[in-house]
Amino acid sequence: MGRFAGKIGIVTGGGKGMGRAIALRMAREGADVAILDSDGVAAADTAARIEQAGGRALPLRVDISRFGDVDAAVDRVAAHWGGIDVLVSNAGIMHPDDDMAAQAGDAVWRTTFAVNLHGAYACIRAALPHLRARRGAIVVSASNAGTVGTGRPVYGASKAALIAMTLAVAREVAANGVRANVVLPGAFATPMLDVVRHYPLTARYPRHRPIDRIADPDEIAGAVAFLASSDARHISGTVVPVDGGSTAA
Ligand SMILES: NC(=O)c1ccc[n+]([C@@H]2O[C@H](COP(=O)([O-])OP(=O)(O)OC[C@H]3O[C@@H](n4cnc5c(N)ncnc54)[C@H](O)[C@@H]3O)[C@@H](O)[C@H]2O)c1
Repeated sequence: MGRFAGKIGIVTGGGKGMGRAIALRMAREGADVAILDSDGVAAADTAARIEQAGGRALPLRVDISRFGDVDAAVDRVAAHWGGIDVLVSNAGIMHPDDDMAAQAGDAVWRTTFAVNLHGAYACIRAALPHLRARRGAIVVSASNAGTVGTGRPVYGASKAALIAMTLAVAREVAANGVRANVVLPGAFATPMLDVVRHYPLTARYPRHRPIDRIADPDEIAGAVAFLASSDARHISGTVVPVDGGSTAA
């Protein structure tokens, strides 16, 4: 029996990249997993992989920046399987023009905050009544860009705010038996990283990575699964870098 046997999880952005790796990992450990992703084809692809491996999955096409759609999707998951134990708020975006030198327009700010902060807020708010009912757990994927300067000012600001929001939630919901923690990915080989690869800032802001390689998406799944599981039952309000040591002081 896996750590998530009998548990129901939601993974936002579970169609690709780290979200997909996290969804597959949780399913492998016994969870029924709902994949909420704005890319319906990608969500269905992850669900198919879970089902091929003998698990149960529910793909839902949802843009998390649309609050009403998030409420409906989360309620649908709870109705489908009878509750929610884990929310992994992983979906996020990085705008290619997020650069002061490029004098990015208002759309960079609006779209980045709409998904990275408002979207995560909407998911946590919608899931909380269900998580309270089952003393569940929240894991939020922010970024080391929320704690150190990376040259992507709007993305970094959205992730810093996301960290602060999650820590506040952790304090608030502890009395209900709900835990909330944050992971800070460093550089992972996902479709998002392609945005950065074509982006001159990586050359302009080189950073020493003690574990000097780009990580595989699977390499965050264990940290997220741990924080979401009962193995971490006394851990809440933490911020865990999974970044090859690149933010080590
Ligand atoms: N890749 C990295 O190196 C890196 C580094 C630090 C932090 N992160 C963060 O980790 C998380 C996952 O990143 P990734 O690299 O796997 O990203 P990705 O772009 O590879 O995948 C993100 C997934 O989220 C979905 N998504 C995007 N906008 C959405 C929306 N509005 N509603 C619902 N789904 C939406 C996409 O369709 C996609 O399936 C993000 O929050 C990202 O900011 C990534």
